Amino acid sequence: MEAYEKIFLWLSVVTLVLFLGALAYAALVIGISLPGPAGHIIPKPGQSLPAAVLATPPFDHPGVKKLGPKKYEAVVLASAWAFTPNEIDVPAGVQVKFVATSLDITHGFFIPGTRVNMMLIPGYISSETYRFEKPGHYLLLCNEYCGILHHTMQAEVEVK
Ligand code: CUA
Repeated sequence: MEAYEKIFLWLSVVTLVLFLGALAYAALVIGISLPGPAGHIIPKPGQSLPAAVLATPPFDHPGVKKLGPKKYEAVVLASAWAFTPNEIDVPAGVQVKFVATSLDITHGFFIPGTRVNMMLIPGYISSETYRFEKPGHYLLLCNEYCGILHHTMQAEVEVK
C-alpha cells in the first residue's frame, strides 16, 4: 500500500469518528433533535378520531398553560381550516412547549422566523419547544396543503 493511501484511509476514519462524535454530542449533550411524534391517539371501537382526540388530555383543554416560572405549554388543535386556539399569548424569554395534533387531515404548524416547523398528522401528537427572545407578533401558518382554504389557515402568536 502506498504511503498516501494510508494517510487518506486514516483521514477518512478520523473524519468519520469526528462526525459521529459531533452528532452524538449534539443529540445527547446539547439535546438537539428533530421534532418527532410524541404520542399516538387511537380511537376506541365505534369512536371517531375527533372524539377520541377531544377526550384525550391535553387536547381536552386546548390553550396556553403556565407550567412553571419560565415554562409554558401551548396545546393546539388543527382542523380544516383553523387552529384552536387562534391566538396564543406567551411572555418573551420563557420556554414554550407546543403540543399539537390534527383532527381531520394532515396540516402544518409553522412559525416563520423560528425553527418551529412540524407536520400534524391526524391522531399523532407533535411537540416542539421554543423560546421567543423578543416580544412581537408572530404568525402560525399551515404549510401543508390541506384543501381549498389552506391559504387562510393561520393563527396569531403574541409574545409580550
Ligand atoms: Cu391546513 Cu394547509
